[in-house]
Amino acid sequence: MIFSDFLPRTLNGEAAENQPPFRDGAKLIFSGCEKCVFLDRTQTLLYTFCNRKFMKILVTGGMGYIGSHTAVALQEHGYEVVMVDNLSNSRREVQENIFRITGKAIALEVFDLCNADRTRAFFSAHKDIEGVIHFAAHKAVGESVANPMKYYGNNLISLMNILRGMDNTGSSTLVFSSSCTVYGQPEELPVSEEAPVQKALSPYGNTKQISEEMITDHIHSEACDGMRAVLLRYFNPIGAHDSAHIGELPLGVPDNLVPYITQTAAGKRDQLKVFGNDYNTHDGTAIRDYIHVMDLAHAHVKALDRMLQGKHKDPVEIFNLGTGTGYSVMDVIKAFEKVTGKPLNYAFAPRRPGDVEKVWANPEKANKILQWKAKQNLEQMMRSAWKWEMSLKK
Ligand code: NAD
Ligand code: WQD
Repeated sequence: MIFSDFLPRTLNGEAAENQPPFRDGAKLIFSGCEKCVFLDRTQTLLYTFCNRKFMKILVTGGMGYIGSHTAVALQEHGYEVVMVDNLSNSRREVQENIFRITGKAIALEVFDLCNADRTRAFFSAHKDIEGVIHFAAHKAVGESVANPMKYYGNNLISLMNILRGMDNTGSSTLVFSSSCTVYGQPEELPVSEEAPVQKALSPYGNTKQISEEMITDHIHSEACDGMRAVLLRYFNPIGAHDSAHIGELPLGVPDNLVPYITQTAAGKRDQLKVFGNDYNTHDGTAIRDYIHVMDLAHAHVKALDRMLQGKHKDPVEIFNLGTGTGYSVMDVIKAFEKVTGKPLNYAFAPRRPGDVEKVWANPEKANKILQWKAKQNLEQMMRSAWKWEMSLKK
């Protein structure tokens, strides 16, 4: 249900929108089940209204980078969000920071989804969950090469527990975070969903391939009753919410390009190493399809809406989420320097093992079927990434 679909009413049933506190900017802070509660700026309860039900969505890994932005998009679209996260790669403050953006409270349960008993108990206690977006996973490619069992264990066991939990409680709608890494170096560019999945270059990438297969096999099996899933293959998410209340929080030295750039410009790192300047590209540096994390977040809402409205054509659907435009590492550096006015200290270095030369998406399927299109350009992405980096200094 969409928040704007209904009219807030005071306790005596009058339309509330032109009266204080709405006129003065009060916000919905809790929504769901039978009541909505409004608090004014002094946190005084003023109105309850509405007996319509909001759909409750479980966001696993919701305290992380993409999950937190998606939680904002879901709340703004009128969904109620409940999160599970073990905080292995995120911080508890994110919960409050989401509230600062949306003015709506978020329920959070902190536990490890690899714990089968705990996950089963969670689903039993939340039988009203209507959809699940499963972000929770480890994602550092290099670490996965060094410690594969950490990745196979976490990423696959948590997914297995989620699928079992959904089976037992009748939540039938799943959105899964996959990755363009499944394409490896595609033969044709831009790469469409029909391109073959290639042998994974890392245990992390392999967990995404196996996860896609696990979901597909399960949904097509007799053991599974009526479940449907959308597998979203993200290209390279970057940037942060415009408010700079949430963003990417890499622990330790970042692996990814954009946090490395912003940390270098902020003086936390000495110099960015540009991995490879001898690729077959316009300037010799590798090309990726960078997508703003809020654009990515909105695509999750569209994917969920599609399934919850019964519009899906197949029980498992796959969509690329990218802009359709590839930029080289040097293009990204130049865009950063342009929007910030700061020269970046960088140097060319050898290629990074396992890197593909160039990949960008054909996003037409998502554009057409999900009615979704990435809107933000590279400069907007870099501006928001920098604003976020600056906010971390405060
Ligand atoms: P992130 O690390 O910021 O967020 C993941 C969250 O999951 C963290 O808050 C972490 O604490 C939590 N988590 C991990 N294992 C858990 C477990 N067993 N139980 C409970 N919570 C657990 O990562 P992100 O960048 O937001 O990525 C989200 C998803 O998208 C991941 O599945 C990732 O593989 C996928 N993905 C990310 C990118 C990217 O570039 N960021 C690209 C493609 C796909
Ligand atoms: C982008 C480009 C680097 C850092 C990874 C995962 C992939 C997906 C997204 C989850 C590359 C270059 C980087 C640096 C550099 N994640 N670079 N100096 O490699 O496309 O994808 O994140 O699914 O699975 O592999 O992203 O941001 O690491 O690199 O020159 O310090 O920047 O070589 O060309 P990548 P990235």
